[in-house]
This record gives sequence, structure tokens and C-alpha cells, in this order.
Amino acid sequence: MRTIEWRDGRVWIIDQTRLPHDVVVLEISTVDAMIDAIRRLAIRGAPALGAAGGFGVAIAAGSASAQQLGTAHVRSEAARLADARPTAVNLSWGVRRVLARLDDGLDAVIEEAQRLADEDVEANRAMGERGADLLTELCGVPLSVHTHCNTGALACVDWGTALGVVRTLHGRGHVREVFADETRPLLQGARLTAYELAQMGVAHRVVVDGAGPSVIARGMVDVVIVGADRIAANGDTANKIGTYPLALAAQRAGIPFVVAAPESTIDLRCASGALIDIEVRDPSEVVSFSGVLTAPVGTDALNLAFDVTPHDLITAIVTDRRVIRPMAGPIVACG
Ligand code: MRU
Repeated sequence: MRTIEWRDGRVWIIDQTRLPHDVVVLEISTVDAMIDAIRRLAIRGAPALGAAGGFGVAIAAGSASAQQLGTAHVRSEAARLADARPTAVNLSWGVRRVLARLDDGLDAVIEEAQRLADEDVEANRAMGERGADLLTELCGVPLSVHTHCNTGALACVDWGTALGVVRTLHGRGHVREVFADETRPLLQGARLTAYELAQMGVAHRVVVDGAGPSVIARGMVDVVIVGADRIAANGDTANKIGTYPLALAAQRAGIPFVVAAPESTIDLRCASGALIDIEVRDPSEVVSFSGVLTAPVGTDALNLAFDVTPHDLITAIVTDRRVIRPMAGPIVACG
């Protein structure tokens, strides 16, 4: 199945908190359940959050309360969904896009949410081809690649962004090896990216986050490719915490640092990275894992979930429609 699907008036998602050991599908039929799934990362990754926002609006519009309380109620439910996590712009984008069809009735809302999900898959496949062409042009083949967090099918409706580019390159027989950062504290790299790479049959090794810059400095990779949660108008890019050190290391080593993200991740209303709202999560995620304390009792932690890579460290941003060179100037709207 896809990471997120609409079936019989409900949303079905693969619960990413249970991977890689258990494949559990969650059935979501209320806005509260969707917000909970988003907050605890049962569904995660910017494009998947866009689809979750859109389907969340469909749930709100089809609920019994919507029949009783009308469109004002659906709009306030939509606002709650959009606020469930702050950094990935795709979430509020998905909510807004589907909400725009509210006055056309429930069928139109559901149709829009489904179209958004279908378009995500098409966009990722297009990005995969464009990104694979770009990496081939920049580095030649076969390629050793470094990546961070999970940007695969699980982070989207299907296929993936940065890992979608790897998937396309692998289909062409052009991937030598992938190094995947484990991605502290919730291990999206170790749990999810390694799971997807194994399914694809791509040679890969997981490294601790702190080793990423050293892998790059030792000349073990040709390129770094990551996804994005929000790209500001000047090209500054928010992505999972630990991305910025990879960009610094790539610049120092003289290898390309590439971002792959759909156009929906570009936020032209946000002038620069300094204005991006960075999610701060519960300290307990840093000082414990799976309920086991990993620091002394009472230790506090700062749990920044994302960082911002300045645009002058980014060689190129590959989207479903174009290749942007953020060092050349601000991003303009895609015609
Ligand atoms: O906290 P997460 O797991 O939602 O963070 C995900 C990331 O940072 C991804 O790199 C980003 O959303 C791009 S996903 C294609």
C-alpha cells in the first residue's frame, strides 16, 4: 500500500513509529486521531504531511459535527490540523489546498485530497528522473551517496524525494553505496531509510550522525542529497536536525550538496531561513529511547527537530519542475 491512503471514508496510514520490525496500519477516522498521528510521527516527512493535512480536512468535512455545525467548524478543525507541526510547510499547504474546495461540497473535498496524494507520487517520480540526471551530470556514475533522515516512500505518498532520486539512480544501475545517518533522536535513518534501501536492494551502511562529516571528509561519497521541510525564498532550507553539518562538510570537501523537494515545499512568503519556525520537541526524546532512560534522571535536553542550511551551501535544489541554483539568486515562482 501507499504510506497514506483514503478508503471507505477513512484514512489508512503505515504507522512509522512501529517500523522496521512491525508493519502496522492505522485507521484514522477523526481529526483528533490525525493530529495525534502527526504529532507522534506515525505519519511524517513533509510530502506525507501535506497528504495527511488534505485527508484530515476530508475527515473534518465528512464528520457528523460538520453536518451539525457547518463550514465554520470544518475551518476551525482545518486550522488545528495545520498547526499540528510547525516546520514542514507542506502540512498547511495541503490543508489550505483541500479546504479551498469546501464550498463545492464533500465529494469535491475528497476528490481534491485524493488528487493531491496522486500528484505527490507523480511529482516524486519526475523529481527522481531530474535529480538522477543532475547527479550524473555533477559527479558521473556509479555514485556513492550520503543522506540524512528518511526521504523515501515513507516520507511521501510513494517513491520519495531525495531517496526517490536514489531509487531512480538505482533503477539505472548507477548507485555504488548509500551512507545513511541514523538520525537522532528518533532514528528515521536507521529505522526507515535502512528499511527502504534494503527493500530496494541498494548497498548501504548506517552511520551515527556525528560520523557524517567524517565520511564526507574521508572522500567516501561523491554527493550529499537530502530532503526539505521548508525552503525560504532565498533558498535557505530547513530539514531534519543534522543536515547543516553535512552541508558544511560537503563544501569543505568540494562535493555537491543537493536538496530534493517538491515545489510545495518552497515557501515564497518566507524571505529567509531566519523566519522558519523550528519545531522544538519533548526533551524526553533525547534523554531516553523506547522508554529506557539514557541520561541521568532529571537531565534536561534541547530537542531541536530541524536546522536551517544557508542557501550559499546548497549546490542545487531539484524539484518536480526545475533545478534551482540558490547561489545564483532568490527563487522565483514557478510559472
Ligand atoms: O521529523 P520528520 O521525520 O517529519 O522529518 C522529516 C525530514 O526532515 C525530511 O528530511 C523532510 O521532511 C523531507 S521528506 C521527503
